[in-house]
Amino acid sequence: MTSGSLSILERKEIEAQLARCPSLPSLGSINKALQGLLLAEQRYSAQVAEIIRCDPSLTSRLLRLVNSVYYGLSTPVNSIEEAVFYLGMRQIRQLTMVTPIIEDFQKLTHQCAFPWREFWQHCIGTAILTREVLSVVQAPADESDYVAGLVHDVGKIVMAWSFPDHFTEIHHQGSITKRDLLELENEILGIDHAELGALYLERHHLPELMIDAARYHHHPERAPRHVPIIASVQIADMLVRSEGIGCSGNYQPITHDDAFKAAGWRVLLPHNHEAEQALARASLHRSLERLPLLLEGLV
Ligand SMILES: [Fe+2]
Ligand SMILES: [Fe+2]
Repeated sequence: MTSGSLSILERKEIEAQLARCPSLPSLGSINKALQGLLLAEQRYSAQVAEIIRCDPSLTSRLLRLVNSVYYGLSTPVNSIEEAVFYLGMRQIRQLTMVTPIIEDFQKLTHQCAFPWREFWQHCIGTAILTREVLSVVQAPADESDYVAGLVHDVGKIVMAWSFPDHFTEIHHQGSITKRDLLELENEILGIDHAELGALYLERHHLPELMIDAARYHHHPERAPRHVPIIASVQIADMLVRSEGIGCSGNYQPITHDDAFKAAGWRVLLPHNHEAEQALARASLHRSLERLPLLLEGLV
């Protein structure tokens, strides 16, 4: 089957091309980073500030973030110590992790026209909300849920790098027809971004949770492990899309109601679904309202 002049590819052609896609150092060091950052919490903020100061890109991101979130301050925040004070260690930790991953991935996205900045807002927004959704049922043990949310759509970046013509055609057709993205990807390329992302992460021996989050984020009920986190990623992804925050490249319109009917909820709250979900809905609404402002400062 063909779409325009493009042919759908066989699995072996897809894998051969995927093998050329470079590995990203930031992803490889993620486990180490997670441990290091947990330790960082116990250090004094002055020491943390010193670490941040060594990374100019993180420094400017951090100051931009604090000034946009706290835009009502009479004098803008100019020092790292102040930023640490306002944002708290949790956000600093998440930001320290996110910055190198985004910068690494940005190297792969040059050759394909796509609203990448809005795409990053989608990814970070999903990461932030994954944490909030998961908190409905359990206290997150570390930052791995956040990372799972951040990388869930890695397959789209890998697709843009490895199959730029197919990627462009898929998004061209998606924006016109508003059809489901996974269906279009399977029809035009022969693989969808969920499977492609999982294959890429597997090839580079990344943690199982990241691989599963990429592969099952549209169908958490099929996940063999880490089901609550992956269900939270699905719900977070849908909430961010339904609110029109950023651009996921999935043009099929969805509503808040769709997000609250997602399969992930049945996984997270198998009993007494309604009452607990009503509580979750209220707190997630508040987070969704704050999200655009936060994302403005981040990317
Ligand atoms: Fe996706
Ligand atoms: Fe997504």
